[in-house]
Amino acid sequence: METYDAVKTVLAVREFQSITLPEESVQRIVESARLTGSSMNAQPWHFIVVQRKDLLKKLGDLVSSGPYIADAAMAVIVATEKTSVYGVSDASRAIQSMILTAWSEGIGSNWAGWVGMEDVGTLLDIPPAFEVVAVIPFGFPKDERIGFRKRRKPIEDVIHSEKFGDPLITGL
Ligand SMILES: Cc1cc2nc3c(=O)[nH]c(=O)nc-3n(C[C@H](O)[C@H](O)[C@H](O)COP(=O)(O)O)c2cc1C
Repeated sequence: METYDAVKTVLAVREFQSITLPEESVQRIVESARLTGSSMNAQPWHFIVVQRKDLLKKLGDLVSSGPYIADAAMAVIVATEKTSVYGVSDASRAIQSMILTAWSEGIGSNWAGWVGMEDVGTLLDIPPAFEVVAVIPFGFPKDERIGFRKRRKPIEDVIHSEKFGDPLITGL
């Protein structure tokens, strides 16, 4: 899948088929995180790959904004150094790399987080020097969502040409 097509079609997937992911896809997804550029190339992150069903279920219980993690084939937990000023920005970029890499292979995912992150850290023995930024569940989507229309603000509301308020004319 071309990069632009992946960006154009990717959607948050919250329902997964109970199918194991191909090992090569798992490796490409996490490699895409590791290979992502970070501020000053500091790479202040860790990625914990969870595929054990019992742990996925516990993660679904802990993250109240993402109970569907329990049904995912895999979750990647992203943790950053607490001392890193750019940790969240760096982690967000790595997360997008994973989401797009997965999507280009037909694998859905979503960002779940902000609630229960400390408990996630405890569950997975993440040292206190790191904070959990997000839990990203992955799996083959239950329904075929590629091609669904995105609900986004119209181009004229958010994209400007040269100066704020002047519209950019596009043929897309
Ligand atoms: C920083 C961030 C945090 C998010 N947290 C959650 C979350 O906790 N639970 C959840 O189900 N979705 C979460 N999402 C997914 C958003 O709800 C989703 O990206 C948005 O609704 C657009 O969905 P769509 O791409 O399918 O249109 C989060 C997304 C981002 C970027």
